[in-house]
Amino acid sequence: MAVQKEQWGSRIGLILAMAGNAVGLGNFLRFPAQAVQNGGGAFIIPYIVSFVLMGIPLLWIEWAMGRFGGQLGHHSAPGMLNALGKQKWLKYFGIFGIFTNLAIMSYYVYIESWTLGYTWHSLAGTFNGMGMHEVSLYFDKYLGTGVGNFLNFSNQAILFLVVTLAVNIWILSRGINKGIELAGKICMPLLFIFGIFLTIRVLTLDAGENGAINSASVGLNFLWNPNFDSLYNPKVWLAAAGQVFFTLSVGMGCIQCYAAYLKKNDDIALNSLTAGFTNEFVEIILGGSIIIPIAVSYLGLDWIKANVGFEMGFRTMPTLFQNWGPILAAVAGLSWFGLLFFAGITSSLAMGQPVMAFMEDNFKIKRGRSSLILGALVLLLSAPAVLFYEFGAFGEYDYWAGTFSLVLFALGETIIFVWMFGSNKAWKEITRGADVEIPKFFKFIIKYVTPVFLIAVFFGATIKPEGGEWGTALYSLSCGDGWPLAGDSLIGMVCNLGINDTRWFVDGRPSTVFIKDITRLLLLAVFIGVGIAIHFAFKKKPAKKAKRRIKK
Ligand code: PHE
Repeated sequence: MAVQKEQWGSRIGLILAMAGNAVGLGNFLRFPAQAVQNGGGAFIIPYIVSFVLMGIPLLWIEWAMGRFGGQLGHHSAPGMLNALGKQKWLKYFGIFGIFTNLAIMSYYVYIESWTLGYTWHSLAGTFNGMGMHEVSLYFDKYLGTGVGNFLNFSNQAILFLVVTLAVNIWILSRGINKGIELAGKICMPLLFIFGIFLTIRVLTLDAGENGAINSASVGLNFLWNPNFDSLYNPKVWLAAAGQVFFTLSVGMGCIQCYAAYLKKNDDIALNSLTAGFTNEFVEIILGGSIIIPIAVSYLGLDWIKANVGFEMGFRTMPTLFQNWGPILAAVAGLSWFGLLFFAGITSSLAMGQPVMAFMEDNFKIKRGRSSLILGALVLLLSAPAVLFYEFGAFGEYDYWAGTFSLVLFALGETIIFVWMFGSNKAWKEITRGADVEIPKFFKFIIKYVTPVFLIAVFFGATIKPEGGEWGTALYSLSCGDGWPLAGDSLIGMVCNLGINDTRWFVDGRPSTVFIKDITRLLLLAVFIGVGIAIHFAFKKKPAKKAKRRIKK
């Protein structure tokens, strides 16, 4: 049996690494955008309920699965799942745990590289004197977008991408302790310092000060005045559950991977909660107190509602910092983009490690080499997301790998761990070595509520109606007019709904549909490729098992 080799050096190192895994671009760019798009205060109750009923149970399940697998020498999903039952297909379900990480890393590292590029430009004073429109145009120039031309890219975007990826690979090649753990110990405190600095600066902003039209409290009130109407709106629930998934990094296989480097009786209950709540602090307090309040202060609530999106952090923030004078603008730019970079890199490391661990455990590839292979794969797979960013390739990655797969994998692993492996065994795994007592009713929640919640989320995403208007859709159904499916519902995505012209070539030029379809085929090929790799990885296993039996 393969023996567990690497382990976390210290508890604080583990928690910072796990918190770094969870705290990412999602906390600062995705959360604020989701909250605004879903009614501000209306978003927060479904968000908290999803966190408690789905997020926390999934954290425990994934930490426990990981620690269990790690003891058997498995540090990635296929081996861990394989160890949970006798069924042959279990390991193939682990495809998700490799595929998702690889695919998400391929576009995530690209956004991460923008933050590095923008840190540089903030320090270099590139945005000095630029108005809002110019800064926004600069973003297009940076990406090489907005020209409507395929294959148009900018050299600096590629340069920063290569540098960012190289830094990731270098850290990963140093291993768990000297790489990931050390990176967490350096990046997380810096992230906190930058985040707290910006939060204090924003919170003390008053109307009339440096051109602010509102005070920061207007934005904060919008985010924090709870609105109970939303409780009946499935659109808000779906968005909230989706955000909880993404921000906690659950449903991917990367938490399991980190947890595989725990010792047999290391605490799970408290460590996972500490990392999870650190993520929530960063998301709700820091993530909620920077971009929205500052933008509302200068541009007003209506502007935000109309323009919010994850690009806002790049298109708008540098201009707003200009109001504070060149020096403070540079410091704020460094803090904002530096914070994003640190948040991003500690997450992308978590996506890379399971893929490397899969190669190391199953194909006996050394760490240095597995990190280089990972780098090559990510570079290759990032190409479509980079080159066809504005033509929908990026969106396809985000939907299939960053949204759909997470829910499916989380649902599957919950059923496998709690129902097939057995709820008593699962509970024992979760509570062994625990430093806090988990209330017994969570056993019930994990067994029944979490899976039902996940099924509801999956079902909701499958038939999501147009505009998220469930009431209107039900009415239309009851009148015999059918169910108006949304283009971004699962069925809508599969059928290219809402796209009238599905030709691949229009006037001899490839169409957006072509780009989208090819991207899907590419992702499918990666998925199948991982399946084939798993097939070969486990082909030799029977001999080993037999040996083990003989030893016993
Ligand atoms: N949780 C990270 C974020 O909020 C994203 C992430 C997803 C990290 C999947 C690792 C794995 O940005």
